[in-house]
Amino acid sequence: MDKETIIGQYPRSPDCLLSILHDLQEANPENYLTEDDLALVAAHVGLPLSAVHDAVTFYSMFSLRPRGRHIIRLCASPNCHLAGAWSALAELRTLLGVDVGGTTPDGLFTLELTSCLGVCGVAPVMMVDDEVVGNLTPDKVRQTIARYREAG
Ligand code: FES
Repeated sequence: MDKETIIGQYPRSPDCLLSILHDLQEANPENYLTEDDLALVAAHVGLPLSAVHDAVTFYSMFSLRPRGRHIIRLCASPNCHLAGAWSALAELRTLLGVDVGGTTPDGLFTLELTSCLGVCGVAPVMMVDDEVVGNLTPDKVRQTIARYREAG
């Protein structure tokens, strides 16, 4: 589906801003929003381009640069930190061969840190796309990454 079709599915209202941005980003195989996307959305919902840009940079789910097909977000807030998130991070760095902010050469994964995901009861936690993976151990990290690699 092209960008105009995606945007055209929504009413011309600022209330639709985040939904449109989400759909546009999801439709991009490189998982990010272009400056052109932002301009198209601003015109559609009747907001200044700067307001759309502010929204995109405020929410960590959006990106203005190309990313992998799967986004891994490891929680770096205190509860997860104390529960061993850094062991999970070390395992992720080794398995993926990239540091935080990096994308694997095959374009499959981007590794990011995030603040509290609101599921501290199962700390340490990471999200892979929309999936919450809690009680992380290096073994569980390996199994999760293997599962996503297998799925492609
Ligand atoms: S501190 Fe990690 S989910 Fe809350």
